[in-house]
This record gives sequence, C-alpha cells and structure tokens, in this order.
Amino acid sequence: MALPFYGKKSILKLCEVYCGQKLPNIMCGIIGYIGHRQALPVVIKGLKRLEYRGYDSAGVALLETNNLKVYKKKGKVASLEEELIGKSLEGHIGIGHTRWATHGEPSDRNAHPHVSASGQLAMIHNGIIENYTSIKAELTQKGYSFKSDTDTEVLLNFIEEIKINNDCPLEEALRIALKRIVGAYCILLIDQNDPETILAARKGSPLVIGIGKGEHFLASDATPIIEYTKEVVYVNDYQIAIIKKDELVLKNLGNERQTPFITKLDMELAAIEKGGYEHFMLKEIFEQPTTINDCLRGRIHPQEGLITMGGVEAYIKNLKEAKRIIIVACGTSWHAGLIAEYLLEEYCRIPVEVEYASEFRYRNPVIHKGDVIIAISQSGETADTLVALENAKEKGALIFGVVNAVGSSISRMSHAGAYTHSGPEIGVASTKAFTGQLAILIMITLKLARALNTISTSDYKQLLQELADIPEKVARILENTDPIKAVAEKYKDASDFLFLGRGYNFPVALEGALKLKEISYIHAEGYPAAEMKHGPIALVDENLPVVFVATKDRYYEKIVSNVQEIKARKGKVICIVTEGDNIIPSMADDVLFVPDAPEALGPILSVIPLQLLSYYIGTARGLDVDKPRNLAKSVTVE
Ligand code: F6R
Repeated sequence: MALPFYGKKSILKLCEVYCGQKLPNIMCGIIGYIGHRQALPVVIKGLKRLEYRGYDSAGVALLETNNLKVYKKKGKVASLEEELIGKSLEGHIGIGHTRWATHGEPSDRNAHPHVSASGQLAMIHNGIIENYTSIKAELTQKGYSFKSDTDTEVLLNFIEEIKINNDCPLEEALRIALKRIVGAYCILLIDQNDPETILAARKGSPLVIGIGKGEHFLASDATPIIEYTKEVVYVNDYQIAIIKKDELVLKNLGNERQTPFITKLDMELAAIEKGGYEHFMLKEIFEQPTTINDCLRGRIHPQEGLITMGGVEAYIKNLKEAKRIIIVACGTSWHAGLIAEYLLEEYCRIPVEVEYASEFRYRNPVIHKGDVIIAISQSGETADTLVALENAKEKGALIFGVVNAVGSSISRMSHAGAYTHSGPEIGVASTKAFTGQLAILIMITLKLARALNTISTSDYKQLLQELADIPEKVARILENTDPIKAVAEKYKDASDFLFLGRGYNFPVALEGALKLKEISYIHAEGYPAAEMKHGPIALVDENLPVVFVATKDRYYEKIVSNVQEIKARKGKVICIVTEGDNIIPSMADDVLFVPDAPEALGPILSVIPLQLLSYYIGTARGLDVDKPRNLAKSVTVE
C-alpha cells in the first residue's frame, strides 16, 4: 500500500501493491515509443540516456504499416548508429534495448530485439527467465530452433507458440506465458500485424510510461522521458500495459483492468545532460555543492536548531525504541552505511550493524520485530538490497530507505525514508549520490540523537551549523583541481594502490580504492591504517602509491606514525590533509588539502579529492570513465 517517503520538495505518495515475490535479476535499458513522431530518433536518444544501465550491445525494432524492421549491433549505441546508416528507418512505433549480458555473450546475434520464429513479433527484455531451459526444451521438441543463446528468444517463441496453438490474441498469449515463467522481466512486445500497439509487462524490472499528447513513451527509468512529458505511470509487478498512441490500458494477469496512477516527475532535462563537461562523472563531481545543498535545503534550520525530516518524524518512536539498527547496502552505498554506523553509534548510542545486502539476504540473519533497517541505495533498484529488505520486512522490521531515484522500487517498498535529491546520476561510478547519502545520514543521526537526548545542545547546534557550511567547503575544494591532476599524472601508470584511513576516514579510504578500481582498472585496496601492519604492509615498496586520508581528527597523531611506517619502507605517500597542516606535508610525497570540518562531517570533504583523483587517472589512461568495462549503473543481477 501507499508508503510514505518524505522529501523536502515533495511528499511522494505512490500507490502500489508490492508483490512480495522473490525480486529481480534485471539490468539493461529498454525504451519504446508510439505516437505521431518518427520513433527512431526518440529511441536512439533514449538508448543513449539509458546506456549507463549496460552497453554490451544495442538494438531497435521499428514498425510501420505491417513492416517490421530490426537492427542490432554488439557494442555501444554509437555502433548501432553506424549500423543504421543507409537503412530504412521509418516507423511510428519503435522499441530499443541496450544490454548488459546475462544469458549469452555480448554479440550481434544475442543483442535485442529478438524476432519470433514466424518473423512477426519483436521483443526486448530486461531480466532473466529462470526456467527458460525447460521451456526451450519444450519448444525444441516442437521443432523450434533458436538464433541466439538468450532466454528472451525462448520467451518470445513461447508466447508465439501459445498464440498459434490457442488461436488467441497476442495479449492473451502473453498473459498465459507470463503465468508460466519464473524470473524477472520487463518486456516490450510488438506485432507486425498490429501496427497500433505496444504490449508491455513487468515483474521485478522497472518500467515507466510517459504520457504525451497522442503519444506514449516507455522506458526503464524516467531519464529518456523527461524531455517529452512529466506525466508518468510507474507500472507495477504483474501488470500488462496495452499501449496505443492515445490510450493506455493496464491489466493484471487475471485480465482485470487497473487504474493507471499518474505521477508528476520532479526533474529537469538539464539534470540529465552533460552541461559542457567532458564526462557525466566530472559534471556530477562538480555538482556536489549544489546537490548537497539541495539535500539540506528545507531540512536543516541551524538558526532555530531544527531538522525537518518527515520520514524520521513519522517513525521517531520506532527509531528511538530500536534495540539495534541494521544498515543494508552494496558498493559505494555500503561505504556510506559504514560511516553511518560510526555516526549513529557515537551520537545516538544505538548498536548498528552494516551488512552487504548480498550476504544479508542469504545468510538467514536474526531479525526481530522492531529492528530498524536503513537501506541505502542510489538507484533504489539494486536486486540484492531489494530482496534483503523484502525478507526483513516480512520478519517485522521497519524499513527506512535512503534513496536517490524517486519512485524506485526501494523507495516504494520502504515504510518511510528520505530522498537524497542528488538528481539523476548517470556516470556509472557513484559520486554525488554518495555525498547526498552522507548528508542524509548525518541529519538522521542528529535528529535522532536530539530526540534521544544523547547529544549535547552545543554539539548538536555546532554540527548543524557546520553541516550548513559543507556545500561551500566542497565548492572550495573544486575551485582548484590542478594539484589533484598533477598527482594523477604522476601516478597514473602505477599497477597497485593502497588507501588507508582511521575512524570516519576508513570508509573514505575504502571508497577511494573502489573509485580507482572502477574508473582506472588499477588494482587498489582500502584498509584501516592501523590494520595495515597486519598484512598489507608486505606490499609496500618504492613502486606502491599509498593514499592516506589523514585529516585533523582524534587519530591524527596515530596516522602520522602510520605515514612514517610507509615512508620507512620507501612507499610513495599521498595524503589528504586539513588546510593548515604542516606536519604531514613535511613527510609526504604529495598532499591534497581539504577545509577543516568536525570529523563526523569530514568524509563529505575528504572523498572529493579521491573522486577527482580516480577521474583524472582514468582519463589520463584514456578510459571511458562514464562507462567502465563490465559495470552497469543499476546492478539488478544477484
Ligand atoms: C560504485 C557504485 C556501486 C554502487 C552499488 C550500489 O561507484 O556505483 O558500487 O554503489 O552498485 O548501487 P545502489 O546505490 O544503486 O544500490
């Protein structure tokens, strides 16, 4: 049912029955258009916007008066565009797909759309059909052969086989097929004998339908739709959509009509364009003063000593009474969770556990009624996180989401939450979403600590004021990136890196290492600085750059000793230090300065040079930093 997810700009109330099934294995981006325009430009532009979801291959199917054309190509959308040169490209109906390979290697023949045996149907699919081998065997026995290795082609022919066998409309065949399959899907299906309709269905994988005047847009998320319309319908699991240019019908698998619930998008086109930057990643790093400010604005009131967060207020009793808080997340979001553990334990005195969602969901964890789970996710679609939450929710835990993507699955299944308001994050490596998550987690901590009376009024007020000053301090770091570029240039050919930090700076070290791995393909490890001597110190020699996150905090003296330990073994030491520090700069090979801040807020500042370091190393190595190999933005495969 309607789940409150409170933000400063809007109170989003999305009615959805959340189906409680095992959740998705979805990646890939899908796009569809039906209406008065030529479909291809809409589809290609949409694919480019969705490319961050996967870029192993891309393809389109166009339909115009009983003429179905399908073009597809291994590689990025740019390769598909080359493939389209000189081809017949007419069509007022179009579907397109950008793939992150699951079944079948990335290749032309495994690229979507797939065409049915008769040549009449074309389909794109985002998800995994888990029982496709048995269906394939059934179809093979009936004489079907397959052109690709994909589960999608199997599902498509299964639908066609049902249609022929039962002599029924395609919509009915689709319904029957979907009742038989196990797995996750978002599919768009077109029929050359019906050039007026797109059929769509979802379970697990997201689907948004944009409503225009005499036209409809379909996509995995709202980014390709926003420039045409702000009115969208989020399709729910087990719904089938029958879409014509001026009609949208939603039905459940029982063939009952359901009312489409129209949501207004709160997003501007500029937010999803590069805006003069060479890469989305760089743009998103530079947006941080604004995005952090957007996250704080309307929520913190330092003068009055107030924090307004509807989601926290609505569940303050549960939060105050929680015997423990479990934080569930993956990747960069998990690193934000680790910082939240330090914050919540220090200021609220509530025990906190931070869990990798992928482990938490499978290891039969102990969850009590009344436990509070904070789920952190940029996309709100990460499969492991989603399923972990499902399980915990069933056991009576309160789910509080810290999510960036408005209307995403995690935001809809949470009891309450807070949006980070970082805007669409297109660069595959997470940057601005991370600092947004930290800002939210700090606000939650302070608000809860205040309610619990576990923080002194002076500390509370000071932290609130310091938090308000953070966007301006981030802007100061971004004013002069030359020293970071110089460090990147100096170490770009290293084969390994070590990142070290203590206290709040330890998760920052982990995040610095993750960013570097993703963006530059350089092996990097993050470690607690003191733990280093229990093993990783053996790696240190004159070729190893060691990055210390060594800002002024309660561990400062100790980290100075750690720096010396590395120097004594001839390692190259690069330090992130607080402005005005002159001790570490006298011993390090390179230093990068960040403004002073209370240590609980320090990570929002110290992570910025690390984001830029990996960006500049990645670009210096000539890599595609927005689309690093093998990665995808929404990791919806378990
Ligand atoms: C790293 C990165 C990933 C994500 C992780 C979780 O730069 O982007 O590690 O943080 O896949 O994704 P969300 O936050 O969308 O659940």
